[in-house]
Amino acid sequence: MIKLSNVSRAFGSGSKVVPAVRDVSLTIEPGSFVTVVGASGSGKSTLLHLMGALDRPTSGIVEIDGKDIAKMDDDACTLLRRLRIGFVFQFFNLLPTLTATENVALPARLAGQSRATTQKRAEELLERVGLAPRRTHRPDELSGGEMQRVAIARALMMDPPLVLADEPTGNLDSTTGATILELLLGAVEAHRTVVLITHDPAIACKGTRIVTMADGRIESDRPSPGPSVPPAGAMGTMTSSNA
Ligand SMILES: Nc1ncnc2c1ncn2[C@@H]1O[C@H](COP(=O)(O)OP(=O)(O)OP(=O)(O)O)[C@@H](O)[C@H]1O
Ligand SMILES: [Mg+2]
Repeated sequence: MIKLSNVSRAFGSGSKVVPAVRDVSLTIEPGSFVTVVGASGSGKSTLLHLMGALDRPTSGIVEIDGKDIAKMDDDACTLLRRLRIGFVFQFFNLLPTLTATENVALPARLAGQSRATTQKRAEELLERVGLAPRRTHRPDELSGGEMQRVAIARALMMDPPLVLADEPTGNLDSTTGATILELLLGAVEAHRTVVLITHDPAIACKGTRIVTMADGRIESDRPSPGPSVPPAGAMGTMTSSNA
């Protein structure tokens, strides 16, 4: 589903170069639920942006669905993201002038679908996340937890096979965060591939595999000690040259 081969991403130039991701090789298998942990500044968000074609590597190869994103122009990358990937961010990234329904429907509207079709599905998704009564509210009329529920509904609008979440509970109190996480995992059916960044070890253990970043590199890549630990020997099916 996603394959990174010797991927590096540096920001800035000259004496101010920051190597955010350094020589990372990693394969995310379809249907897996991978959590990414690591200290602040260790390169987690940069890695997720590369996985979702929101950014391009300085060197190395990023393949999504077998396609090398370096060989795709910006329009093709946009299309790939819109059709194949649902994003959930810490600060929700909702459009302030749109209602909850319009925010949820946005990916489908941008893909050229009619307002009538998209409205129905957006309302269904809002109902699924328990926000039907807030569908005409704009983001500034919603709480943080409610905004994140809108963002989750939006991420699922195009029924993407891949969901990338960057600390989706990081800006919420722990109770709201727990509810949001259950909602996200419940909405993400077993067949979907999920990569989730978190600072919370309890959340990290909900994945089937935990990737730990340190200083731009993969420090460890191992099965989660949670209830869904793969059987002994399953490590061999997981590929990470940095592990
Ligand atoms: N656009 C940018 N320009 C310059 N430096 C950047 C940029 N984005 C990230 N960095 C730097 O790259 C490094 C990795 O950043 P990144 O956001 O990936 O870390 P992170 O692990 O997600 O941290 P956090 O847990 O705080 O979100 C940091 O040192 C950061 O300052
Ligand atoms: Mg980050």
